[in-house]
This record gives sequence, structure tokens and C-alpha cells, in this order.
Amino acid sequence: MKIAVIGTGYVGLSTGVGFASKGNEVFCVDIDKRKVEQVNEGVSPIYEPLLGEHLEKVLEEGKLRATDNLHEAIRKSDVIFVSVGTPPKKDGSIDLKYIEDVSKEIGRSLANKGYKLIVVKSTVLPETTENLIIPTLERYSGKKAGKDFGVCVNPEFLREGKAMEDFLTPDRIVIGSLDKKSGNILEKLYSNFSAHILRTDLKTAEMIKYASNAFLAMKISFSNEIGNICKRLGIDVYDVMKGVGMDSRISEKFLSAGCGYGGSCFPKDVDALIHKARDLEYDPKLLEEVQEVNKRQKIGMVDLLESKTGDLKGKEICVLGLSFKPGTDDVRGASSIEILSKLIDKGAKIRVYDPKAKENVRKFFPDIRYAETPKDAIKGSDACLIVTEWKEFRNLTDKDFKTMRKKVIIEGRKVLDRNRVKDFEGICW
Ligand SMILES: NC(=O)c1ccc[n+]([C@@H]2O[C@H](COP(=O)([O-])OP(=O)(O)OC[C@H]3O[C@@H](n4cnc5c(N)ncnc54)[C@H](O)[C@@H]3O)[C@@H](O)[C@H]2O)c1
Repeated sequence: MKIAVIGTGYVGLSTGVGFASKGNEVFCVDIDKRKVEQVNEGVSPIYEPLLGEHLEKVLEEGKLRATDNLHEAIRKSDVIFVSVGTPPKKDGSIDLKYIEDVSKEIGRSLANKGYKLIVVKSTVLPETTENLIIPTLERYSGKKAGKDFGVCVNPEFLREGKAMEDFLTPDRIVIGSLDKKSGNILEKLYSNFSAHILRTDLKTAEMIKYASNAFLAMKISFSNEIGNICKRLGIDVYDVMKGVGMDSRISEKFLSAGCGYGGSCFPKDVDALIHKARDLEYDPKLLEEVQEVNKRQKIGMVDLLESKTGDLKGKEICVLGLSFKPGTDDVRGASSIEILSKLIDKGAKIRVYDPKAKENVRKFFPDIRYAETPKDAIKGSDACLIVTEWKEFRNLTDKDFKTMRKKVIIEGRKVLDRNRVKDFEGICW
């Protein structure tokens, strides 16, 4: 099929490259001209394992082209995916300005064209497609949804760091559709994927995405809560969760206690759902606590540090790991950002190391020291915090930490190897 994917970010580029490698003809659309150029040159604008190789291949095969010309891409396509960002506003509610802008543009473009299917892949709250996207498309096109164009909601569940793998071999594909025809077209597009397909209405599909993220965030906050209790009892929460995860009703995934979840999805999506619930005059106590435990966990790294070193003013603090998880350069919502802000507020001198995310953090904190290696960051520091579980930190040994002025090591992710490094303290183990 001929496909346009509007918004060439983490989701849009993975979607575009994924559909192109499944044999479709894809136009990746973005307003960011630099991104468009990079993609056409075979350079992925984000760090994502396997994405670069797949991108090169589909460009060579002539299956994908990036463009900033939305109208041309829509004219040449049968199915139009919307994958622009849905960031949080200051108060935590969802900002739909990109969705609204792009709906107007698509609407204008549909005005003089035949039947096309519009698919919402961005994460939007239940009722957004019905109450905002469809009315905007209809207003700007003068056409009728369900008659002149089709509409689906097809939430994306990929994990950054595993985006290509997750896109190409998903656990399930959720297709929420306005009508049978729309859903059938999208189901046909996915016919060469081997995954369960679940057909629903539009708002159920929207809610499945939020419920999934809220549940996973809850598993992490739950593990952290249990970890904080375990620590006071001298029990290793990782041993506990190993036993808990063996229960097939629970599963061992997302039970790693540590210094909190981050990323562009969990914090913002749980907040957005909380706002939606309040708008509906429902008090979402469990969701609020999930977020609260998470915030406490991040700040807990600095509290634990202070309890070991005293006043942080003028102290040299090393932070290893900045991305919100390994395998990505994404720092949106990352625990590192909150931890660095707190350290700066307290007057600490900071040096950091991350194999991929340095440049993204530099935009927020241009004045801290960016080391080229973990050893370089550790050397001469008064304390070291480990905030992302990059594999390379597992190779660190006591010898590497001997170069510290004082040996205070606080582990936020349980990545250090006990056989190689003695004397460190976990945030909740
Ligand atoms: N990042 C993830 O892991 C992930 C996973 C699942 C779902 N999601 C959801 O997918 C959506 C996209 O997330 P992302 O992380 O890919 O965002 P992103 O910020 O990486 O990418 C969004 C892109 O849209 C472009 N854009 C904005 N307005 C545009 C317009 N009018 N026309 C063309 N391009 C436009 C931006 O320039 C940007 O490149 C969000 O709703 C997010 O919640 C993200």
C-alpha cells in the first residue's frame, strides 16, 4: 500500500521504516527540514538500534522517502498515519496543539481528493479522535467521516531501544475503527504481521494504550514501594521480585526496583489520564500514588547521597547514565534530569557520562562537565550516582572507583557487579 506517516520522530520513523521493510511505499513527513534531509541521506535523527540499517535498506530499495510536503505525501497515499507528539502541558494535562494543527492540514488536503484512511497512532486520550480529530478533519475538508474518508486509532506499544523489533513483531495490534471499512483496510495493511489483532471502537483503542502504560508504571512503583520496605528489613528486593515474577499471573517484567521510571510516555500518559479522570469528576487515587512514589524515588537518590556526604555545596558529584533507559538517547522525563536539577540547586559540581544521551542533556545543562568515559567521570569525585543501567557499567571494578576522592557509590539500577565492586548502596536494596 501507499502510506504517509506524519511526524518522523521515534514512533513515526520506526513506523515508516517498518512498513517500508514490509514492502509498502512510504512517505515520512515532518515539518523539521533537517530531519527530512537526514532521513533521505540515510542518517537516523535518533539513536535507535537497528533503525539505521533498516533505513538504509528501504532507501536503497526506493521504498521510503522523507518530505516536508504534507499535501504531496497525502495525495500519493491511501493510508495516512498521524504520529506527531502529544507532550504534557505545564499542569500535566495533554497538549493537543500538534494533533490539532496536523488535523487541519490533513483536512485541507482531503478536500479535493478521493477516499483515504486516516490512522491516529499518536497517544491521545479517549474521545479525542471522536471529539477533536474527526470534527476538525470534517470542518477543513468539507467531507464526511465514514463516507468520504475512513478513521482508525492504532496505538503504538513499541519500546525505545527496541523500536524496530517491537514494531515488526508486536505482541498485539489494536485497531479501533470508526466503521468496518476503515478497520478492514488497516487490518489488510497488517496482514503480513504475525500478531494478535484486536478490533475495537475508537475510544476503547485510545484507552487500551493509557491503561497499558498506567499498568506498567504501576508495576514499577509497586516494586519500588516493596523495595523501600525490603531495604529497611535487610532483604534484597531483586530476590523478592524474582519469586514474585515467577507467578504467571504477574510475569517477571517491569518489576525492577530503582530510581524511578522516566521517558516520553509513562510520566506524561499517567498524568494525562489523571487529568482526564478528574475532568470526569473521578478521583484517580491509585494513579496519583503511582506518580507520587515515582517522584519520591528519583529525589530519594539525592536524599540518600546527602545522608552519606552531608552538605553537597562544592562537592564533586559524578552521575553515570543520563538517558531514561539504556539503548536510547532519549532524556524526556528521565530520572537524570530531576536528579541533576536537584544537585545543581544544592550547589554540587557535576560531571556526567552517558554513551548516547550527552548532547540531549547538554541542551538543559550546558555548564556541567561531560566526560568521554565513565572512568574519566568517576576520577576525583566525592560521590557517584548510577542512574541508567547501560551494560558497560557492569564492567566497572573497584580499581576504577579507587580514583574517587571519597568512595560513596549510590546505585539506582542494580547494574554494578557485586563481584567487581564492593561497598555501594542501592536506592532500595
Ligand atoms: N516515543 C515512544 O516510545 C512512544 C511509544 C508509543 C507511543 N508514543 C506516542 O507517539 C507519539 C509520537 O511520539 P514520539 O516520541 O515519536 O514524538 P517525537 O517528538 O519524537 O516526534 C514527533 C515528530 O512530529 C513532528 N511534527 C510535529 N508537528 C508536525 C506537523 N504538523 N507535520 C509534520 N510533522 C510534525 C515533529 O517535528 C517531530 O519530529 C506521541 O503521542 C507519543 O506519546 C511514543
